[in-house]
Amino acid sequence: MKINLKTANKVTQIHAEAGALSSLGSIAAELVKGRRAAIVSDSNVAPLYLERAKAVLTAAGFSVGGIVVPAGEASKQPEKLLELWAEFNKLGITRKDVIVALGGGVVGDLSGFAAATYLRGCPIIQVPTSLLAMVDSSIGGKTGIDLPFGKNLAGAFHQPVAVVTDSNMLQTLPQNRYTEGMAEVIKYGCISDAELFRGLECGSVSAEDFVARSISIKAGVVERDEFDLGERMLLNFGHTVGHAIEKNMGFGGISHGEAVAIGMVIAAKLGVRLGVTPQDVPERIISVLERYGLPTTTTYSATELAAAISSDKKNLANKLHFVLLENIGKGVLYPIEPAALIDELKTILI
Ligand code: GLY
Repeated sequence: MKINLKTANKVTQIHAEAGALSSLGSIAAELVKGRRAAIVSDSNVAPLYLERAKAVLTAAGFSVGGIVVPAGEASKQPEKLLELWAEFNKLGITRKDVIVALGGGVVGDLSGFAAATYLRGCPIIQVPTSLLAMVDSSIGGKTGIDLPFGKNLAGAFHQPVAVVTDSNMLQTLPQNRYTEGMAEVIKYGCISDAELFRGLECGSVSAEDFVARSISIKAGVVERDEFDLGERMLLNFGHTVGHAIEKNMGFGGISHGEAVAIGMVIAAKLGVRLGVTPQDVPERIISVLERYGLPTTTTYSATELAAAISSDKKNLANKLHFVLLENIGKGVLYPIEPAALIDELKTILI
């Protein structure tokens, strides 16, 4: 599958197919003028794929350097940004050259922000290696790092020149990371693709297929609302409560996907309560999540989640755009004040 995602001042080529990594060199050579490449990867992914990525870029005429950061969220730190800028400098990267993010969401966000800011912006190609990065974080140009007082608090929109998604890479992904990514795939079914959801319900959709469908949905949403002012907020289905659970458990205590899974169930139940969502929807979501090994309940009370919901950076001007489902396949934004949301949550959570 190849999609051209058109945003305000860039076109991102998205290539998604089994074996796409072997085309990375030719894609980069077509899209960038310079012939230097800095590949940023992490300590889990580099042993598996760095040499191959280097080889295909070298074969396409690039002089290539590899930079490996420790795997895990702890690498999304300002200090790591300084290290990447220094490495880019050592490799002689100019604005005509290219940064390649080879990894999951952490590598994509960190190197995306480093590319957005180095020399006021260098081209980047995202090569996502986790399911979550393939279907979500590699597409749409959101980049960033964590600050001591919160996740993703510094960042930039920086659209990649290309995203190269090789579904064969899923074969080396640990089961828990695969499960985590499935939460986002299920989310796409919930908010915009009833057929995908039905395929997930009966297990009849292949990984290559659901990755491609998820990418198309995300690309369409980003094209229509690059800067997250409207429709793109639908991608946050399950995320308001999910983030609050993550914050309460301490980041790392629960995976993002697991927290979002629980958040989706709560959002569906809330939708029923508010008269927006049909009665059968929460149960359907619960059974799909269970089918893919995701959790569906939390022991946190609404009061315990309240502070995190009120302080979320996305809850601008004290109005929160909570995402509800009009049905499976149709997400809607439901403006609500955080205090009112927390009152509603009290009726659902013990
Ligand atoms: N992951 C949500 C977004 O890209 O907007």
